[in-house]
Amino acid sequence: MGALNCADGVSASPGSPDSAGAVPGARGFEETQAERAVDALRACVTEFIREAAAAQNRFVLRVAIVAAIGGFLFGYDTGVIGGALLYVKHDLHAESNFDQQAIVASLLVGAVVGAVVAGRLADLLGRRRTIICAGWIYVAGGIGSALAQSVWQLVGARLVLGLAVGAASFVAPMYISEIAPSKIRGGTVTLNQLMLASGIFVAYIADWGLKGVPGNWRWMVGLAAIPGLALAIGMLFVPESPRWLVEKSRHDDARRVLRRIRGTDAVDDELHEIEQAAKHKAGHRALLQPQLRPMLIVGIGLAAFQQLVGINTVIYYAPTILSFTGIGSGSALTQTVFIGLTNIVFTIVAILLLDRVGRRPLLLVGTSGLVVALVALGLFFQLGWLQQHAPEMALGALLLYIASFAVGLGPVFWLMISEIYPLNVRGPAESSAAVVNWTTNFAVSFTFLTLAGALTRAGAFWLYAAIGLLAIGFMLARVPETRGRSLEQIQRRPGATPTST
Ligand code: BGC
Repeated sequence: MGALNCADGVSASPGSPDSAGAVPGARGFEETQAERAVDALRACVTEFIREAAAAQNRFVLRVAIVAAIGGFLFGYDTGVIGGALLYVKHDLHAESNFDQQAIVASLLVGAVVGAVVAGRLADLLGRRRTIICAGWIYVAGGIGSALAQSVWQLVGARLVLGLAVGAASFVAPMYISEIAPSKIRGGTVTLNQLMLASGIFVAYIADWGLKGVPGNWRWMVGLAAIPGLALAIGMLFVPESPRWLVEKSRHDDARRVLRRIRGTDAVDDELHEIEQAAKHKAGHRALLQPQLRPMLIVGIGLAAFQQLVGINTVIYYAPTILSFTGIGSGSALTQTVFIGLTNIVFTIVAILLLDRVGRRPLLLVGTSGLVVALVALGLFFQLGWLQQHAPEMALGALLLYIASFAVGLGPVFWLMISEIYPLNVRGPAESSAAVVNWTTNFAVSFTFLTLAGALTRAGAFWLYAAIGLLAIGFMLARVPETRGRSLEQIQRRPGATPTST
């Protein structure tokens, strides 16, 4: 066999004639196909690492990591409250369900508002300054939460924190996608999702590690001020997005930034392409234009499906789901740590593959895996004998679920919305997808326990599985491939076939 190209054997969509599927009954052929797919995957990973580590891309990677601190805080601030709440309850007398839900929900409500406002800010002030503002709000919200003396002060502080979470959730990926070269854009933008998954994991560890410390919940929520400060200060030292600079007619500044981030003076072609794209000035009303509608539907559809498959019931309620299986709460917490780790590991897999295999195949494979896991979870809760004879099945299904989310819907939604919209409406268009995502997050998280009561636990998971199937249909019908194309090429022809890289 000649030198293997990464695209061989893995880049085809599942179910397509040239996918790595096998002819029934032909075992030898099946094995060769499987070996080929593994080799091709290995080639993909090596190619991505070589490209990302190339000298000219190191600066972009450093800049992306600073912006992705925004993602870390998104994960930490959403993940930390579960553990903190156990202590807040006694300290601030938040005994009623209403008070506790208000403490958790305030951040999500703030995030919806933050997502609305940040679209405009990213266009008016620039991506960089919007992220700097988010950094300072993270600091203020973290300190405010740590000092709260009543439930309502804590609710207020978390509402403020939510503003930063909602803003950073999409402005950080937007900024990264606008500075990254198209060959490694998928992996680079997904650094934000990796930091997000790490933020959730660190939050679990902080909740666990600070168990015996006096005033622990104040530390749990307050510690987030430190990365907030790192974000606000770090962003002072990175360049503004060249695409935003062109949009503001600051062409010389844009050229300077492009030279810096590409490590070469030969940036005329890229600058010209951005300038051409920026000429289509249509104002925010362009959001209503018919030609934009298909991509708005893609963004809003992925936003809703990402949440409607129930990801945050797993993130927020994993210990509760595991304790339904009859294990003690100590083991449930330990097993939750495995879920957090799996989320991180499979996000790394996504980073390595997105720019080689493409967005669509990962989205389809990931969502299919997630549907299988949800059906299995439903069966587990439905069939008493499974609970008795295979208690480990629940953890297995949850791990499959989170791994599938982490390679598919998790990163690809945030990545896609940072790629598919024209420059002149990118702020409000991404903002609309983010608002739908946060609103659905709120709705799903707060109905899970009620839903499990009304439909049974099995019924709730099967409902999410059915939504997962609808999501697959939507992806097949609507979602374009954006791998290997510049943002301007995508803007010109969103649904075009990708150029091979
Ligand atoms: C989702 C979050 C979720 C996280 C889990 C993100 O892509 O938007 O709602 O909590 O992934 O890793």
